Amino acid sequence: MDHEKIMLTGAQETMLATLYGRALDSRSPRSVLHDDEAARAVRRVDYDFSKTGVKGTSAVGIALRARQLDEWTREFLAAQPFATVLHLACGLDTRVHRIAPPPSVRWIDVDFPEVLDLRRRLLPEPEGVDYRTIGTSVTADGWLEQVPADRPTLAVFEGLTMYLREAEGRRLVEGITGRFPGGRLLFDVYGTIGIRLQKRVPAVRNAGATLHWGVDDPAELESWAPGLTLLDSLRSVDVPGLEHLPLSGRLGMRVLARIPVLRDVGRILRYGFPPSESGNSGPDGSAKPGE
Ligand SMILES: C[S@@+](CC[C@H](N)C(=O)[O-])C[C@H]1O[C@@H](n2cnc3c(N)ncnc32)[C@H](O)[C@@H]1O
Repeated sequence: MDHEKIMLTGAQETMLATLYGRALDSRSPRSVLHDDEAARAVRRVDYDFSKTGVKGTSAVGIALRARQLDEWTREFLAAQPFATVLHLACGLDTRVHRIAPPPSVRWIDVDFPEVLDLRRRLLPEPEGVDYRTIGTSVTADGWLEQVPADRPTLAVFEGLTMYLREAEGRRLVEGITGRFPGGRLLFDVYGTIGIRLQKRVPAVRNAGATLHWGVDDPAELESWAPGLTLLDSLRSVDVPGLEHLPLSGRLGMRVLARIPVLRDVGRILRYGFPPSESGNSGPDGSAKPGE
C-alpha cells in the first residue's frame, strides 16, 4: 500500500496531531471515541507522528473534546433533522463518519483545498448523508454564499479559533449568525494564557503554526450578533470523562483546576443564535424539508 507523504506545514499540519490523538485513543481498551477510521488513516500516512508530542494524556484530551462536540452535534440533529452542519476546519476529522447523520442532513466539510485533497485520499466518502465539501479559507470572502441559507445550521469548529485573528473570528461568527435561520455554534478556544502556553506545545511549534486569538470571557461574544447566547462554557479541566485520563493526567488536571489563572486555559463553547429576520424558518427556528 502506498503511503501518503505529508507536504503540509503550519496550521494545516497540526491536523496530524489531532488525528493521531484520536487514533491512539482508539487503540486503548478504554477508548473514549472509538475512532477506528482515524487509526486506519494514520496507518496510511508517511509522517513522523512523534513530532506531534501527542501521547497518553493529550490523546485522551483530544478524544474527550471531540466527544463533547459530537454529543452537542447529535443533540442538535435529533431536534433538527433537516439541518445543515458546517464542519469548519475539518482537517482529517471523521466527525461525519462518527455521527453518521441521516439523509435529511446536509453536511458540509470545509477546509483549505489542499487539506481536502488529502482528506479524500485518506478517508472514505461518507454514505447515507447529503455530503459535500468546500475548499476555502474560512476567512475568504464569499464562500458562505455557496451554502444554501434555507435551514437551521450548526457550525462546529474544533482547533480553529486559535489560528484566526480576533477580527477574523468575529467576521465568521457574524457571517454565520447573519445568514442562517437559527442554529448553534460549537467551538473550542484558548484563553490568552492558554495561547501563550500552546505556542510551546510540540504539535504547534514543530509545525511552525502561529497562534493568535485567545478568548478569556466567552460571554463577550454575545454582543457580536443579535440574540447570540452562550449556552455552555466547559473548561478543559471540567470536560466529562476525565476519568479516562492516565493517573498522571488526572492528577495534573486536579492541580490545574485549583489554580485560577490556569484553569481557564482552554474551553469548549456552545452558543445558540435565533432565526434572522430574513430567514424562512418557522417561529421555533425549525425548517421543513424542501423549504
Ligand atoms: C488543529 S487542526 C484541527 C483539525 C480538525 N478540526 C481536528 O480536530 O482534527 C487545525 C485545522 O484548521 C484548519 N484551518 C486553519 N486555519 C484555517 C482557515 N483560515 N480556514 C480553513 N481552515 C483552517 C487547518 O487546515 C487544520 O485542518
